[in-house]
Amino acid sequence: MKKKILDIIKKKNKSKIVSLTAYSKNFASILDNFCDIILVGDSLGSVLYNYKSTREVSLNVMIEHSKSVRMGVKKSLMVVDMPHNTYRNSKEALKNAKKVMLKTKCDAVKLEGGKKIFQIIKTLVKNKIPVMGHLGLLPQTDKTFKFKGKNTSERDKILEDAELLQSAGAFSIVLECVEKSLAKMVTKKIDIPTIGIGASSNCDGQILVFDDLIGLNPIDVRFVKKYSNIRKEITKAVISYARDVRNKKFPSKKYSY
Ligand code: KIV
Repeated sequence: MKKKILDIIKKKNKSKIVSLTAYSKNFASILDNFCDIILVGDSLGSVLYNYKSTREVSLNVMIEHSKSVRMGVKKSLMVVDMPHNTYRNSKEALKNAKKVMLKTKCDAVKLEGGKKIFQIIKTLVKNKIPVMGHLGLLPQTDKTFKFKGKNTSERDKILEDAELLQSAGAFSIVLECVEKSLAKMVTKKIDIPTIGIGASSNCDGQILVFDDLIGLNPIDVRFVKKYSNIRKEITKAVISYARDVRNKKFPSKKYSY
């Protein structure tokens, strides 16, 4: 059965939320059988396009990838990242989020930030656009990629922001690279689920970039467990194919018309 926003919220304190990113149909259709949430993350900017940061990702690129993912997602909740500079005020956010919802048929959008986007989230929710929040490390705006929650002011701000996002109507919050005792405090303090990435098992769920999880992305990420080495498998397949073509073994009779 297709998962709804309420199904995700109800998982808090009951069972862990499983979430992964997807950027295209075929992978999404595999993940769909095992995930609660599939996120079309703007991480695709660095993972697929080699951009220096997610700031370069456009709304149209997000929409095209999301349309592909939509074809593979039947059961999970599908969330799409709103890229940088597409939600600088409520009017802009509403126009762009409506476009994303309409064109991609996704279930929700994700926005990065706390207090600054409180009113924006309120506007989207009022207009029946479900919103997932994102706190901690904010790749769209942070100048440096540092772990969050080491000092009191940082901790207080994340706690305060989490409560604000909840009161604005967000249905869940991604906590990225947040120190584990802070992740615990935030998770305890709010009634909506927290979904961690590099934020310990204290969150209500976990999310990873799928390409990292399967070892497709050659870069090692400290908090990612590589569950497979798919580059190795693909390499073997391509070596065999190249050998067969060069030795005139492919296409054999079986594969010819
Ligand atoms: O863009 C992304 O993939 C994300 C996840 C890392 C949470 O925001």
